[in-house]
Amino acid sequence: MFYLKYRPKTIEELDNSHVKEIVKKILLSDSLPHALLFIGQKGTGKTSTARIFAKAVNCLNNKFSRSLTPEVKESSKKTSGVDTVEPCNACKNCLSIDSSSSPDVIELDAASNRGIEDVRNLIRESNFYPMTNRYRIYIIDEAHMITNDAFNALLKTLEEPPSSVIFILATTNQEKIPKTILSRCFLINFAKAKKSDIVSMLKKIIKKEKIAIDEQLLPLIASHADNSFRDATKILEELTTQQMLTFEEGKQFLGLFLENFFQTLQKRDLQAILSWIEEFNQAGGNFKNLIEQLLEELRIALLTRSGIKMEEAADVELEIKEIVALMKLLTEAYNNLKISPIDSLPLEIAVVEFYNRDKVVSSK
Ligand SMILES: Nc1ncnc2c1ncn2[C@@H]1O[C@H](COP(=O)(O)OP(=O)(O)O)[C@@H](O)[C@H]1O
Ligand SMILES: [Mg+2]
Ligand SMILES: [Zn+2]
Repeated sequence: MFYLKYRPKTIEELDNSHVKEIVKKILLSDSLPHALLFIGQKGTGKTSTARIFAKAVNCLNNKFSRSLTPEVKESSKKTSGVDTVEPCNACKNCLSIDSSSSPDVIELDAASNRGIEDVRNLIRESNFYPMTNRYRIYIIDEAHMITNDAFNALLKTLEEPPSSVIFILATTNQEKIPKTILSRCFLINFAKAKKSDIVSMLKKIIKKEKIAIDEQLLPLIASHADNSFRDATKILEELTTQQMLTFEEGKQFLGLFLENFFQTLQKRDLQAILSWIEEFNQAGGNFKNLIEQLLEELRIALLTRSGIKMEEAADVELEIKEIVALMKLLTEAYNNLKISPIDSLPLEIAVVEFYNRDKVVSSK
C-alpha cells in the first residue's frame, strides 16, 4: 500500500510546508509544550507528524540526545546528528516507535469505546516516568470524542503536567474540544492538503516506484483527492494497479467531472449544465466535495484576477462580477445541502439562478 509505504518519516518529508516549519520551530525551542493539538481533516498527516514528533524527542542521534548520560550516548552508533532535530529513524528508540513496540509511545483512538476507557486510565498512568525513553508520549486520535469525564481528568493533568509527558491530541473537529483544553494546548492547523503539495508528494512516489504515468494526470488526481494526501496516494495506486497511466485512460478513470463544470457552465446552455450535474449524480459523485472544489477554484480565480499571485492556476474564465455571484450562489447551495431532500437540487438551483441573474442584467 503506497499510503503506508510512503508515510513521511522525517519532518523534511512532510509535504505540508506550514506544518513542517512549525514542528521544526517547536523542536528547536528550549522548552517543549506538554500538550499539542493537531487539527485537520483525514489524510493530512496528523498521525504521521505525531510519530515523527515522538521519535524526534526520543531519538538517540539528534539534538535531544545531548542531555543523555555518556553510557547511553556510547550505545548509540552515530553521533553526527547532534545538531538536528530530525529523528534518525535508525536508533533503537526510533525503530521501536516505528514498529509500535515502544512502551512509552501510546497511541489510542478516542472514537472507540475502549479508547474512552483508555484515556481515563492513561491519564492516571501518566504520572509515571517513561520506561526506556526520555519522554512518554500519548497520541490520542479523534480527541473530540473524549468524554467530559475524561477531559476533566486530562485537564487536571495538564494543569500540572509531569515534565516527561507529552500529549498529542488529533482531531478533525476542533469545535468539539472544550475551550479549557484548547487553551492549554499548542495548536497546529493541518488545514487541507494543497493541490500543489499533493502533486509534489505524488511525484516523489512515481519516481521511487518508477511508474510510467503521464505527469499531466497528477493535478487531476490531486483535484479528486478530497484535499487528502492519503486519498491521492490511493488513487495513484489504483491507476497503477489498473494500468491506466496515459492521460486519456486516467481521465476516463477519474470521470473528470471537475475539469469541465466551468467549461460547460461557460457555454451558457442550461440543458448542458443540468445534464452535467445529472451525470455527476448518476456516477455517485459527492456534491459536498464538488461544491467545495468549485468554490476553491473560484476563489483562486478571483485572487488571480485581482492580481494576487497564486500557486495554482484556475480553469475559470468568468468575469469578477460573475465569479462573485457564483460564489454566493454556491455557498448558499452548500448550506442547503444539509436540508435538501435531493442531493443534486441545491446545485441545480444555483446554476439556474446564475443564468437567470445573467438575463436580468442583460435585459436592463
Ligand atoms: N504531509 C504529508 N506529506 C506526505 N504524505 C502525507 C502527508 N500527510 C499524509 N500523507 C500520506 O497520507 C497517509 C495518511 O496520513 P496520516 O498521517 O495517517 O493522516 P491523518 O492522521 O491526518 O489522517 C500517509 O501515510 C502518507 O501516505
Ligand atoms: Mg490519523
Ligand atoms: Zn533515532
